[in-house]
Amino acid sequence: MIICKTKQALQKVLQLQNNPISIGFVPTMGALHNGHLALIDASKKAGNYTVSSIFVNPTQFNNKEDFDKYPISIEADINLLIQHQCDVLFLPTVAEMYPDGPKIPHHYPLNYLEQILEGEYRPGHFQGVCYIVEQLLKLVTPTHLYMGSKDYQQCMVIQFLLQYNQQLSNIQLHIEPTVREANGLAMSSRNRRLSTENFNKAATLFQTLVFIKQNIGQYSLDALINMAKTKLIEGGFEKIDYISIADAHTLKPIEQFNPQQPAIVLAAAFLQNVRLIDNLPLN
Ligand code: PAJ
Repeated sequence: MIICKTKQALQKVLQLQNNPISIGFVPTMGALHNGHLALIDASKKAGNYTVSSIFVNPTQFNNKEDFDKYPISIEADINLLIQHQCDVLFLPTVAEMYPDGPKIPHHYPLNYLEQILEGEYRPGHFQGVCYIVEQLLKLVTPTHLYMGSKDYQQCMVIQFLLQYNQQLSNIQLHIEPTVREANGLAMSSRNRRLSTENFNKAATLFQTLVFIKQNIGQYSLDALINMAKTKLIEGGFEKIDYISIADAHTLKPIEQFNPQQPAIVLAAAFLQNVRLIDNLPLN
């Protein structure tokens, strides 16, 4: 695996691949787990020359403590990427990606998509995500982009970005299923901040989503959401940002469940001061 720490080095390496190859790209913030590695595997399996990036992007953190405490394990990450036959790792510094300081020079018209759920509770988060992913895509020039449905709303934001910037419109977005721990907890770099006891308790988040899926026809949606909130609090979660049962295409909350219309439940809640998110399609 070739490791590039500068944009220039990355561009040189990609230029040397002179055949018209297909490039698969897997952007990450590191502290890699099997969810990330499944994206690398999907790209490799499709025969792509596979580029991954590790960059903890300061502009997408709306909370300084979350940024400061974001887990870092570069050595282990590099070994995992080598094991999974990743071809290139782009590992830039903040100064490399933000030579004028970590600011976003323009606003992306995400509108409703950033007024709800993660957008509502993490103001500015998706602006930071759009900016860094746009910069990375312009550098890597992939034909295929691999992302995880664990961050469902982020996938929708990136789908918007690919249409918004003409230069990126040929990139095909592949959304891969959420990889889970044995207890059902969605894998996440932030899980490393949980004690063993809370790691076990955290499975309540997924169990709550499953409870909603299993009971969706039986109660009103409001009643179901209230029961789910009680379950989370009883399970040890200290704060709930949202539990939303929404249209899977628009993310607008639905009023009534219709098995013929794709719906999804999405949730974000805190355990031991760690913010966890998850989602589950309902049909
Ligand atoms: P990060 O949280 O490191 O996630 C990188 C990619 O891995 C994202 O596409 C995410 O959806 C996917 N992923 C995370 N956990 C997963 C799981 N359990 N199963 C499957 N896929 C999973 O998302 C980001 O980084 C950043 O916002 C980024 C896009 C890199 C921009 O900075």
